[in-house]
Amino acid sequence: MSESNRKVVLVGDGAVGSSFAFSLLQNVSATELVIVDIKKDHTEGDALDLEDVTPFAGPAKIHTGEYEDAADADIVVITAGIPRKPGESRLDLVNKNTKILDSIVQPVVKSGFDGCFVVSANPVDILTTITQRLSGFPKERVIGTGTSLDSARLQVALAHKLNVDVNEVNAYVFGEHGDSSFANYDEATVSGKPLSEYSALSADSLAEIEESVKKKGGQIIGLKGATFYGVAMSLSKICKAILNNEDVALPISAPLTGEYGINDLYLGTLAIIDGNGIQQVIEVPLSEEESHKMTNSAEKMNEVLMAVK
Ligand code: 2OP
Repeated sequence: MSESNRKVVLVGDGAVGSSFAFSLLQNVSATELVIVDIKKDHTEGDALDLEDVTPFAGPAKIHTGEYEDAADADIVVITAGIPRKPGESRLDLVNKNTKILDSIVQPVVKSGFDGCFVVSANPVDILTTITQRLSGFPKERVIGTGTSLDSARLQVALAHKLNVDVNEVNAYVFGEHGDSSFANYDEATVSGKPLSEYSALSADSLAEIEESVKKKGGQIIGLKGATFYGVAMSLSKICKAILNNEDVALPISAPLTGEYGINDLYLGTLAIIDGNGIQQVIEVPLSEEESHKMTNSAEKMNEVLMAVK
């Protein structure tokens, strides 16, 4: 990655895309942000609006562009896709969004792009797996937002329940970003102590929290039609880890090659991200029940992948 030019191409300037752009400019010192979308006027307007952030946040060249702009980019972020409607599952979207993905990945690869793909379009584990397959890129250079948003939601829910600062909570959700995800309570900590030592939450309370986390996306969509701030922050955190070569462990959709007994599939787990993408997938210790849930998530994803047209 060039030290002097840190370039991100954003494909998809909907609510998630523009919230990500806003967050990137505030939190990450990218030198160039190119926005690609079929809605040309809206995207032009967004680029102009976002450039007004730079006097506050720091300099960056922001403009609209085409897939060829990926040629010398460090990261291509894909948020493009049809979002979930109220009542629709992320998996319902798969065929529609695979077609859209195909029309993005091919020209990006053709441009000579040699950086990392970061995908948040849903169903994210499936679409990240398909991005890697379509691009032929090394697996470590394709990353999905995975369960980072679910993990954030779990941290928020535990912080509410225990009445502590959210930053005191360290807890992750793994598996599918979706209905078959699960909370990794065994490894969760609060103020540095194992959750089970910090507070004697009943099994029912824990199950209730896990369920509320799973339903939160749908709840927000029911109320305001879409969710975007949380996933936008997750995207900018991943981009920051790549652009700053951070060596940081994040809960993402990562390529499993034997971890948890799963192969050839992207699924939510912890992984270390640096300037080259995924430096290492971390196989987190899981209880027997959690291991079953991980396997169940993988089976569900594989069923969907086999049905993708
Ligand atoms: C979410 O969980 C819609 O996947 C998105 O907020």
